[in-house]
Amino acid sequence: TLFRSRGGKMDHKKEQQKQQAARAAADYIKEGMTIGLGSGTTSRYLIREAGKRYGQGLHFYGIATSRDSEQLAASLGIPLLEPEQAGKIHLAIDGVDEIDREFRAVKGGGGALLREKIIASWAEEVIWIMDESKLVERLGAFPFPVETVPFGMPFVKRRIADMGAVPALRMGDGKSYLTDSGNFILDVQFAENTDISQAAEQIRNMPGVVETGYFGQMCSRIAAGTSSGVKVMENPHRAV
Ligand code: A5P
Repeated sequence: TLFRSRGGKMDHKKEQQKQQAARAAADYIKEGMTIGLGSGTTSRYLIREAGKRYGQGLHFYGIATSRDSEQLAASLGIPLLEPEQAGKIHLAIDGVDEIDREFRAVKGGGGALLREKIIASWAEEVIWIMDESKLVERLGAFPFPVETVPFGMPFVKRRIADMGAVPALRMGDGKSYLTDSGNFILDVQFAENTDISQAAEQIRNMPGVVETGYFGQMCSRIAAGTSSGVKVMENPHRAV
């Protein structure tokens, strides 16, 4: 089965799978489109591939979900739009941290979840790209990212602990990690068998929370690199 528990001995193939998925998704970029550029290692492959195609004469605009992606895209010559300049976003392509059979995903391991969710919610089409280790039977193994304004963080942290989950403030370089929007991230480990979509909704309603890493069924399709090639699957119940 394609969907399985996380883990396994495929690390050496992972990068190749990510790259294959990125290439398959890049085929959906058409002349004149505005493309939401995701964040993370898989999205970096996509941006490089898109940059290559731009160089070969395929013209499109990018709108980046993080400073990292913005820098990479700019270095490859992809013209970038700021939100106020962007009209329609025709397609967004981004990675995921976990995804289940229902196309429900957890994202934000790279800390770019807020912009990623904004872009995904505006895009007409969304493609999530990944290696097969991201396909899981059950969401929840990956620490669940919650972005909070700094002032609200201690309160949100206590309320999440009251839910029976274990929140940890994300650190970077010995200090609290700050998102591109100047917020903190709590990485939350839920108790086994927690319904992530319900827990995400409960957390989303806590004052101080800006966004969570739960991305319901926001993708139109996924492209997963696997040991037997790229699998492109349509999401029959996309809900944006
Ligand atoms: C960034 O905030 C994330 O949502 C990434 O899209 C996600 O972490 C996937 O990253 P990798 O492609 O590096 O696994």
